[in-house]
Amino acid sequence: MKHIDSAPSTPGKFKMEKSPYNNRLRLQSSIAKLTFWSFVFLGLIFVFFFRSSSSPSSLSSPVSSDLSRRSLRTSSYDGPNFEKRVRASSKIRSRNGISVLVTGAAGFVGTHVSAALKRRGDGVLGLDSFNNYYDPSLKKARQALLENSGVYIVEGDINDVALLRKLFDIVPFSHVMHLAAQAGVRYAMENPSSYVHSNIAGLVNLLEVCKSANPQPAIVWASSSSVYGLNTKVPFSERDRTDQPASLYAATKKAGEEIAHTYNHIYGLSLTGLRFFTVYGPWGRPDMAYFFFTKDILKGKSIPIFEAANHGTVARDFTYIDDIVKGCLGALDTAEKSTGSGGKKKGPAQLRVYNLGNTSPVPVSDLVSILERLLKVKAKRMIMKLPRNGDVQFTHANISLAQRELGYKPTTDLQTGLKKFVRWYLSYYVDGKKSSQ
Ligand SMILES: NC(=O)c1ccc[n+]([C@@H]2O[C@H](COP(=O)([O-])OP(=O)(O)OC[C@H]3O[C@@H](n4cnc5c(N)ncnc54)[C@H](O)[C@@H]3O)[C@@H](O)[C@H]2O)c1
Repeated sequence: MKHIDSAPSTPGKFKMEKSPYNNRLRLQSSIAKLTFWSFVFLGLIFVFFFRSSSSPSSLSSPVSSDLSRRSLRTSSYDGPNFEKRVRASSKIRSRNGISVLVTGAAGFVGTHVSAALKRRGDGVLGLDSFNNYYDPSLKKARQALLENSGVYIVEGDINDVALLRKLFDIVPFSHVMHLAAQAGVRYAMENPSSYVHSNIAGLVNLLEVCKSANPQPAIVWASSSSVYGLNTKVPFSERDRTDQPASLYAATKKAGEEIAHTYNHIYGLSLTGLRFFTVYGPWGRPDMAYFFFTKDILKGKSIPIFEAANHGTVARDFTYIDDIVKGCLGALDTAEKSTGSGGKKKGPAQLRVYNLGNTSPVPVSDLVSILERLLKVKAKRMIMKLPRNGDVQFTHANISLAQRELGYKPTTDLQTGLKKFVRWYLSYYVDGKKSSQ
């Protein structure tokens, strides 16, 4: 009290005279102030305890609990409007149609697969984190495209278990097309944890939710040709060894195949892994060679063309996006139901892995020659030694298994596919005046 009394309420302005009356007035005003601040203090304590006791720790995910907590606090996924959009997008509009949750729907492959499913009358709901691994405005443009055809993409992370559970509560998806991942071989040396986050933790969280869903969905997911790593036997067949990955990206995809085996074995989830071989086409990924070669040739910048030891050719089994989409749909259509219920396995379930490639590897220098012809610009080639940062010298798919069991039959050669890509590139970046950064 003493120090409150002695402190002027308006320091330095004017001083009240000391009298008994003034002293009483001062005492009364001090008591009022003390009462006021006591209420504020008690209020703050009350708010603090109320918030911490309502923290939903019981719903946290086994792998990543932060995102579960965050999504429960945010209200953007609540409310009738959100549920209405999710339901409308997932509505099946054809006889024998399926309802599919497509993860990575704003990505290159995800956009094309979602559009194809929607076109044939399936129910499709997208999920994507719109991360900035490459220009998110391209992902937003793909989202706008899908929105026009009635596909809603929920913005969220596959590690957000509470969100995933909510989506399964709203829609009993019969299938999951899991394409969300941290892609790219070289970026793994720069940001290794992003691969663990999306390709391992994210996959486990997704499978945890799928195993508990009722009914359990059948899952088709993207592995990669990179699992063949240092394997030198060509063409690569599903029976070849995959225990020598050349990059962390490849190692996380290989881990994904083993994780798939575990969830199939323990919980009866139907799982199909697709090993894509260098997919290209319109709306493609800016971090891939065919894409940034196009950009750099047009800008007059030199482009690196890698060469293996002893002038060995570097070649890729380039596969056109429409062929990959057909393979994905073939996998979804032949996927058997999962056998578990209530989170428990009730019988053996399907477990498959397929190569989806083009079966005709093309040297990267030939790819550049095709681009030069299509763009009518001479490339400034810079021949360089293939660095040891994850890339392999050669990929070549044996696709006979996918041919037999999925009806997969690629029909687009590199010249035809690149022509479609270049047409799109010019209309999007040149005519559409979008920045290619
Ligand atoms: N394109 C190819 O040549 C190729 C080759 C082999 C395998 N794959 C695999 O195919 C799949 C699709 O590849 P793409 O070329 O369309 O790649 P992409 O990067 O264009 O698409 C992946 C999408 O997943 C999203 N994503 C990433 N992490 C996420 C997370 N934690 N939660 C939610 N969304 C997340 C990204 O925002 C992106 O939109 C990936 O699994 C990739 O590894 C692609």
